[in-house]
Amino acid sequence: MAVKYPISVTLTDRSKLATVDFSNIPFGKVISDHMFVADYDGKQWVNPRIEPYQNLSLAPSNLALHYGQSIFEGMKATKINGEPVLFRADQHARRLNLSAERMCMPAIPEDLFLQGLKMLVDLDRAFIPEADDHALYIRPMMFATDEYFGVHASEKYKFIIFTGPVGPYYPTPVRLWVEEVFTRAAQGGAGEAKCAGNYGSSLLPAQRAKKAGYDQVMWMDAVEKKYVQEVGTMNLFFVMDGKIITPATTGTILRGITRESFITLLKEWGYTVEDRLLSIAEIADAYWRGSLQECFGAGTAAVVSHISDITWRDRKLELSPVNEQNRPVAFRLKKHINRLRMGLEPDTHGWLSSCANSGILEFMDEKQQALHV
Ligand code: COI
Repeated sequence: MAVKYPISVTLTDRSKLATVDFSNIPFGKVISDHMFVADYDGKQWVNPRIEPYQNLSLAPSNLALHYGQSIFEGMKATKINGEPVLFRADQHARRLNLSAERMCMPAIPEDLFLQGLKMLVDLDRAFIPEADDHALYIRPMMFATDEYFGVHASEKYKFIIFTGPVGPYYPTPVRLWVEEVFTRAAQGGAGEAKCAGNYGSSLLPAQRAKKAGYDQVMWMDAVEKKYVQEVGTMNLFFVMDGKIITPATTGTILRGITRESFITLLKEWGYTVEDRLLSIAEIADAYWRGSLQECFGAGTAAVVSHISDITWRDRKLELSPVNEQNRPVAFRLKKHINRLRMGLEPDTHGWLSSCANSGILEFMDEKQQALHV
């Protein structure tokens, strides 16, 4: 990889690696040793650097904390023959910049994003778990850093990438509650952006659903409360009436990169895939006719997460028990994506990118280089 940006590197002298129990990694609790940071000074991105993962110092008047100029991505790295690979890294860089545009924030040059990311993942490669259904989760994020309390777009920003090994986000099948009181986003809102506010406002409905015995809410459209949107942590797919339907991305839900990858694969495998408006009434009707075969969520964190049941008002749509016979589409997708990321399927779409030759080795002494395997 051509190294274009002068990224400085400070290595930790207190690695956490030895404290990580790779046989038990709850999602989101373990953070790797280093982070990539760059600052936007109002005109350009400056001082790109890799440094030990550490706390930040922020003024209480930091604009992001008040007005929500804060966006993020979620992506994953695995290993093939011991070498770190990223899944659809370019798409994540692009989507971050679309979120930035919507939230009136500066774009980060895609090549700076990718160079910092590859050096970071290469450096902390020992944190990439190798068990099935495990990966290194990567969290790129950008937020405002101006200190001011009038409502306006910040001039300065910080971009950070940090990572951590993860296991499955939903280890068991997910019970969904059809949410008809609260909504996630309306047309013209920021529902398509991966911005912090979308997740903050989802917490109360999610908590209420949890108290009522569900795992997550299934969002409906904001106008008619009729059309299925997403789950908030994943896009949805329904196998019904002999085809596969996924709610259309009409500006109110996330344009999932896993979603788009699955549509591509399913079409190649010969399935009929419909990417369109889908009402909860149509799903319930298919269920009552006995023709709702599968429902699953798709996302970076969720990968493929089976839905066990969907409760719509006082009606519970109970899907078949989770096994390969009942859920062939979800099982096939999950198996394929996991195998692809482990190098066991050919990467026919060029979705994987290597972190080899990231340039990180030159910042290590001989002892560190010897341990870098
Ligand atoms: C992801 O799938 O990576 C997400 O960002 C969803 C969630 C963990 C916030």
